[in-house]
Amino acid sequence: DSPGEFGHPFLIPQRMGASVQQQIDDGYRRHAFNVLVSDVISVHRNLGDKREEECKIKEFRKPLPSMSVIICYKNEAMSTLLRTLYSVMESVPEIFLKEVILIDDNSHLDFTQAVKEEISDIQFVKIERNEKHLGIIGSRIKGANMATGDVIAFLDSHCECYEGWAEPLLERISQDRTVVALPVMEIINPDNFKFSVTSMQRVQRGGFDWTLTYRWIPPDRERFLNPLMDMTQPVTSPTMSGGVFAIDRKYFYELGNYDDGMQIWGGENLEMSFRVWMCGGRIEILPCSHVGHVFKSRSPHSVPSDVVMRNKRRVADVWLDDYRSLFFKRTPGALKADSGNITSRVQLRDRLECKPFSWLIEKVYPELYVPELNPRLSGAVSTTISLICISVVVVLTDL
Ligand SMILES: *[C@@H]1O[C@H](CO)[C@@H](O)[C@H](O)[C@H]1NC(C)=O
Repeated sequence: DSPGEFGHPFLIPQRMGASVQQQIDDGYRRHAFNVLVSDVISVHRNLGDKREEECKIKEFRKPLPSMSVIICYKNEAMSTLLRTLYSVMESVPEIFLKEVILIDDNSHLDFTQAVKEEISDIQFVKIERNEKHLGIIGSRIKGANMATGDVIAFLDSHCECYEGWAEPLLERISQDRTVVALPVMEIINPDNFKFSVTSMQRVQRGGFDWTLTYRWIPPDRERFLNPLMDMTQPVTSPTMSGGVFAIDRKYFYELGNYDDGMQIWGGENLEMSFRVWMCGGRIEILPCSHVGHVFKSRSPHSVPSDVVMRNKRRVADVWLDDYRSLFFKRTPGALKADSGNITSRVQLRDRLECKPFSWLIEKVYPELYVPELNPRLSGAVSTTISLICISVVVVLTDL
């Protein structure tokens, strides 16, 4: 009956008084979710196991590779961070959890200290504090350098791992080391921390638009139309949101790490997505693997928009070929952005003999709307067609 158990929402009783309301407002201001609710729910909450039967009975070819989990944070709410950490420790069998690496991205010293105390007894949790703010990109580069497992898994600091999430990812990577394996991202409601599990039929994929912004795209239509399809099989995805993914550690480096010319946050998930596909890898979602993520109403850390613009410009300059002009058309501010020195990334693209961006669109993301040079006629027609497609998907989803 404890608050939030089995993924139930926790609703704060009405008429709690001004000081409680003050606390709630303060939580939203600092973290963009209801911190009070998170604090009331156990950091060891049990989510139950609502996976489909096919997932529960599935057996995995052993031995599975070992895994290092990397969690980067800056002044995360303590209860949310600890729930992320403990959910990893409580859901991943010890035999293949090599270590958990916490990269504290220059949080307030007393927060860092409190986390250190909390984990001081746990041998396989390592913590490293950045002396200056590096953002997600710099912190993940640092975390990966510390990792020793066969596979590294990056996890945002406001997640909860679901029963059996790791095995499908590890098995898939052990079959094909060029697969970047993603769990199904589940929504943890930012107001009441309700955790719901997506049915395998409805697994959403990752796309992007011409402002180089990540977009969710509807499930593969075949999943609704083909009754004989094995729903536990991996679903390919053109891009990833970047919050949670697992990758073979050596392959991560062969493929060029993160782009260390990008700063703080923004665009790094698309950069890696394009690179993976164009340079011989794959991005796949494993429908039996679920990880919840608190989807905040806004980003609580303000990343200057010029930083994001510079990062995106870098992605466009290195990876987009002629399609760069579509990005500039939608994002005029990027024309003035300075992408810095891209020489080493262009060399990387040559060295890995990566395919052109047109290949990615044609083979991996054919449903992407690609504006023509004469948008007046073809734009309208394409929009109508994609509206028809969307309504088909909506109807099917309602069934
Ligand atoms: C850009 O980087 C390359 C190698 O990464 C280096 O050789 C070159 O000198 C740099 N160019 C400038 C203008 O700094």
